[in-house]
Amino acid sequence: MQILITGAAGFIGFNLSNYILRKSNAKIIGIDSLNSYYSKKLKKDRIKEISKNKKFSFFHVNILNKKKLEKIFKNNKIDLVINLAAQAGVRYSLEKPNEFVNNNIQGFFTLIEIAKKYKVKKIIYASSSSIYGDSKKFPLKESQNVKPKNIYALSKKINEEAADVFSKQYNMSFIGLRFFTVYGQWGRPDMFMMKYLTSSYDYSKKFYLNNFGNHTRDFTYIDDVCKIMKKLIFLKKNKIENEIYNICSNKPVKLISVINDINEITKQKPKIFKRGLQKADVVKTHGSNKKILSLSGQQKFTELKKGLKNTIQWYKKYYNY
Ligand SMILES: NC(=O)c1ccc[n+]([C@@H]2O[C@H](COP(=O)([O-])OP(=O)(O)OC[C@H]3O[C@@H](n4cnc5c(N)ncnc54)[C@H](O)[C@@H]3O)[C@@H](O)[C@H]2O)c1
Repeated sequence: MQILITGAAGFIGFNLSNYILRKSNAKIIGIDSLNSYYSKKLKKDRIKEISKNKKFSFFHVNILNKKKLEKIFKNNKIDLVINLAAQAGVRYSLEKPNEFVNNNIQGFFTLIEIAKKYKVKKIIYASSSSIYGDSKKFPLKESQNVKPKNIYALSKKINEEAADVFSKQYNMSFIGLRFFTVYGQWGRPDMFMMKYLTSSYDYSKKFYLNNFGNHTRDFTYIDDVCKIMKKLIFLKKNKIENEIYNICSNKPVKLISVINDINEITKQKPKIFKRGLQKADVVKTHGSNKKILSLSGQQKFTELKKGLKNTIQWYKKYYNY
């Protein structure tokens, strides 16, 4: 089996590629535009690390570049596409909405068009928990109404709706994954946890705690995400539909409590600058994972403290602390 993973230099794309290569015989073609939204060095290091595996090949390609993308499909038999390439960052979507329209919406359409031309039958793609907006009904279920409150979330909603149409029109099967605050080794420096670790080991880096620490997030450890995704990749049942799943641990935690756990492990105590709710931020996420569990059979999720320990261990090694 040969899998094309877009966004392979990204946090989830890298970890997933790594996991699948270790746990199966599948070959992976990774592509990424290596954009500079956050450290390019980190993205290149991820690619360097994963390229040690001979079953992995990498192309520095933007999914908006039809010609280059098509060449990859033409020269390689692709059995499955996993689209993780996207402009991420809820707050960044206030500054640069066009990046989200281009990479997340147009990019998705371009990829699907080419996948269809080369007769790929199955697409797994990233959506997001932010699609639910400020819902008050918890745990959030896939069947409830969604209400995006920023362009990032809207781009994911459009992906889901487009996948619905494409599945019927093109006879392709889609699986959309609404990820909830994924954390872990090789994590994203623009997200809460890595930002806090940065300040923990370098007190000159100011740490701002939004909404005075009252945000609640359904933290989901990257290894659990990879395990679930592996099941979806090798799933035999391939109905022609667009099925959406929450990918979450169903264990919401207040940020301030995560900070206390991190401090306990690092033995550091950086100064915290508390500030109010930021525009575009959702106050709470807490998903139901019943639907994905009944499909994947996954029962246990990594305890937050265990996931934090692994993350911090990686952080110290990678950043030399
Ligand atoms: N990490 C999370 O907690 C989380 C939560 C919800 C949804 N998601 C979604 O999961 C997916 C992966 O997220 P991540 O955390 O790994 O983000 P990431 O930013 O680390 O990875 C995305 C990668 O896509 C690449 N990229 C962006 N535009 C591209 C384009 N046009 N062509 C090719 N490559 C492009 C970037 O360079 C980056 O390496 C994204 O779609 C994201 O929106 C992530």
